[in-house]
Amino acid sequence: MPASNKLFEAYQHEKLTLPNRVVMAPMTREGAPGGTVNQKMIDYYQRRAKGGVGLIITEAACIDHLAATGFPNVPFIGREDTADGWRQLVKAVHSAGAKVGSQLWHVGAVRRPGMQPGGDTPGYSPSGVTKPGGKAVGHVMSQTDIDEVIAAYAKGAAQAQATGFDLVEIHAAHGYLIDQFFWAGTNLRDDGYAGSLENRTRFGCEVTRAVRASIGEDMMLSMRISQWKQQDYAAKLCQTPQELERFLQPLVDAGIDIFHCSTRRFWEPEFEGSTLNLAGWVKKLTGKPTITVGSIGLDNDFISAVSGKGNATTQATGIDKLLARMEADEFDLAAVGRALIANPDWPNKISANRLEDLKDFEPAMLAALA
Ligand code: FNR
Repeated sequence: MPASNKLFEAYQHEKLTLPNRVVMAPMTREGAPGGTVNQKMIDYYQRRAKGGVGLIITEAACIDHLAATGFPNVPFIGREDTADGWRQLVKAVHSAGAKVGSQLWHVGAVRRPGMQPGGDTPGYSPSGVTKPGGKAVGHVMSQTDIDEVIAAYAKGAAQAQATGFDLVEIHAAHGYLIDQFFWAGTNLRDDGYAGSLENRTRFGCEVTRAVRASIGEDMMLSMRISQWKQQDYAAKLCQTPQELERFLQPLVDAGIDIFHCSTRRFWEPEFEGSTLNLAGWVKKLTGKPTITVGSIGLDNDFISAVSGKGNATTQATGIDKLLARMEADEFDLAAVGRALIANPDWPNKISANRLEDLKDFEPAMLAALA
């Protein structure tokens, strides 16, 4: 490991200071029966804060809308009964020296019918389709639905701020609701939310402006974006840097401070002709700080790992490649997912160069909140 290690330098932004640049990636754990935070979750996050993480982004929290969730036992945010739990979680993370962000989530068409709350409520989405060419089985959102969902994002953000979170992140990646508006394959509308790339960003921009109005100017607002979709890992919203710039500018104008750029492998170039990854391009094109993510410290990506195709070893992919990119100022922060499930003290082990103490990630580890 090089002597100077930017991963462990403090991060200073006018809206957020962090003790280092290691971020815990948001990871759904389905351990919140009833949608509220419990002690096991609080302990799980506090362990990562004690283990040296600078910023924890908690697992995606569903906004208060009947069709927001598609998975069992995920936490909600913005309901009266969810405030206390979040407040305690934030306090526990802060007491261990880390900062904490809340990720706001609506699954859109990717709703498994029967999930509570909501029961038989169908998925709500721009056009009722889950994937390009799919049958329209879900509910096509009316303008009233759109306005209600935007209001629920703003309410979730207000609760995140009131309960002490340091950052709000809008989950606009991975083929969920906001990404279903972004993606031409799932947005077949014929109104002002569809058609051109700029029109397809309109819903995301309206969510951003409502969240910004709710939290004010001084709180850091992140948006998680991805080219890949759970419905199509090879999908690309933007084929060129020029398209990416057209996609990002309206979101910057709407009030995003930092982009969390989700890729499956951080070392992969986003476009031909440059080694920059997605976070590198987004920072270059917008001038905004970015977070990179994807197989940091691991040798296989999370899709193969969670689908049971094997464990990810922590030794094979060193982090030297990551550090070199950070030194070159390609991005600002680095989010770590599975390596932090396997090693709650991953940052402390890495900074002390105790690589031999790293545990490999095994999918079976997802069964418990350890
Ligand atoms: C995830 N991921 C994810 N992403 C997100 O934006 N919100 C979420 O709630 C989740 N949930 C989730 C659960 C589990 C079990 C895994 C493994 C992943 C994606 C995650 O944040 C991250 O981008 C990937 O795991 C890639 O990082 P690693 O694991 O390769 O470091």
